[in-house]
Amino acid sequence: MGRPRLSVVIASTRPGRLGPTVAQWVLEQVPDDRFEAELLDLADFALPFLDEPREPSEGNYAHEHTRRWSAAIRDTEALLVVMPEYNRGYNAALKNAIDFLYAEWEGLPVACVGYGWYAARYAKAALRQTLERVKMTVVEAPGLELGTTLVDRQVVPDDALLRELARTFEDLAAAVARSSRGPS
Ligand SMILES: Cc1cc2nc3c(=O)[nH]c(=O)nc-3n(C[C@H](O)[C@H](O)[C@H](O)COP(=O)(O)O)c2cc1C
Repeated sequence: MGRPRLSVVIASTRPGRLGPTVAQWVLEQVPDDRFEAELLDLADFALPFLDEPREPSEGNYAHEHTRRWSAAIRDTEALLVVMPEYNRGYNAALKNAIDFLYAEWEGLPVACVGYGWYAARYAKAALRQTLERVKMTVVEAPGLELGTTLVDRQVVPDDALLRELARTFEDLAAAVARSSRGPS
């Protein structure tokens, strides 16, 4: 059997964002023997504010941008979301992207590496509630702290960060093994 696909999601969409730097670093930490990993950049999907006339739980999408986003999520077996903290929440583009879909999320293993002051603790707490609402399988992950492990737009990992992230990948792999989802 092949390795499961892990998508490392770049959640920030703003020009000049730090997200791709952090996500690229996370991607390089993914153990090759566990996952086939790739970057999934929310900016590439250019989702407008939710514009589907039917509720996403019906799964009957009117727009091509929604079908494309849906296919990308259905095509993966685990997510590692790399997201910033904005005003003590997570970024609006990420919330909007989650709101677009529904059944696609159910049972999908997910971990979230936040970055910001205090390692994005408020954003992570807020995101967790949303992920649980859409019935994803949430796995713990570390955050990156501005001024400590994220300095001058570079990741400066310490032992604790590397250890916790390695643990996250192991837990994600275990969650995928328990999951009934396969690639569609
Ligand atoms: C609109 C906005 C609000 C922010 N609010 C917070 C915050 O509440 N807590 C925090 O730790 N950092 C906050 N920051 C700083 C971000 O963590 C930092 O700018 C980070 O680089 C944002 O990620 P991005 O560059 O990938 O978009 C904020 C940044 C922006 C742009």
